[in-house]
Amino acid sequence: MHGRIVPASADWIAEAGRLIRSGALVAFPTETVYGLGADATNGEAVARVFEAKGRPTFNPLIVHVLGLAQAEAIGVFSPMARRLVEAFWPGPLTLVVPRAEAANVSELVSAGLPTVALRAPDHPVARALLKAAERPIAAPSANRSGHVSATRAEHVAADLGDKVALILDGGPTAHGLESTVLSLVSGQPILLRPGAVPAETIEQIIGSALMRRTETRAALSSPGQLESHYAPRANLRLNAQSWQPDEAVLGFGAMPALRARAQINLSPSGDLIEAAANLFAALRSLDASGAATIAVMPVPAHGLGEAINDRLRRAAAPRPSGS
Ligand code: TXA
Ligand code: MG
Repeated sequence: MHGRIVPASADWIAEAGRLIRSGALVAFPTETVYGLGADATNGEAVARVFEAKGRPTFNPLIVHVLGLAQAEAIGVFSPMARRLVEAFWPGPLTLVVPRAEAANVSELVSAGLPTVALRAPDHPVARALLKAAERPIAAPSANRSGHVSATRAEHVAADLGDKVALILDGGPTAHGLESTVLSLVSGQPILLRPGAVPAETIEQIIGSALMRRTETRAALSSPGQLESHYAPRANLRLNAQSWQPDEAVLGFGAMPALRARAQINLSPSGDLIEAAANLFAALRSLDASGAATIAVMPVPAHGLGEAINDRLRRAAAPRPSGS
């Protein structure tokens, strides 16, 4: 598939919705910047987003929804979160909230965190696509990692043209600046990324000053609250070729027939997209087995393997006590 720029007509939006449901990537306009969209409920589709962007790490992605009803199936909305939704949705405010117990979105959109970023875009094409896809759409800005966000369909084509099935052309975007990202996870709202909604406008709604990301480390009761990556309780032993019966095992490809306390194969066929889609759920489940150590078989370093290995290395690194 190659990324054809097409007009955002009803027919092409319907086709884009079908492509999203089939697990393909579709670029689409929002009122901020163009997004690189995938079915948020499909782990392999979400993994393809990271592959397309060439991100060497798994950053959590924004899940796009039509409004609060769809958002509440994914995240937990406090009274303050609802107030902000009422004031700013649809619009360029992204809210980071705790994941709902039965959230039907891939763990990869949260990069393993217990939180999820949600926003309802205010652009007729984005909204029509969300309706056509009949599911939430995970979408980072439609640029390659390290490049600036795309505000025109042509920019998307230049950056990601060979990676997307379709690019819906909605003309230049209105804001040209990403959404404001606000975390509502720690009880006190924290501005994680300044963006199209000014902080002052949010402060008027909540009636108090927002904490900035830089001010939060000292102020938060637990520094772990701001941590941007998931850390299992168990120790990780990387590049394991064999293991003890009391260890849990994270496998990749062909696995030796050895006893283990628990074992999960990220991809028996050695497929990195499948492995990325399974990574966080697998770590969580092996951690829950109660094993003190998770032995991790080697994962190749190419393609998505770079981000997978980055995450495994971080999970294996010694952690400061108390976090
Ligand atoms: O305007 C926008 O927000 C665009 C359009 C396409 O909606 N999207 C966008 O996505 O800018 P992206 O992936 O380039 O930026 C998402 C930001 C990142 O800074 C990411 O770290 C943060 O949101 N984020 C996402 N999920 C998070 C989470 N669970 N916790 C903390 N930060 C999160
Ligand atoms: Mg971006």
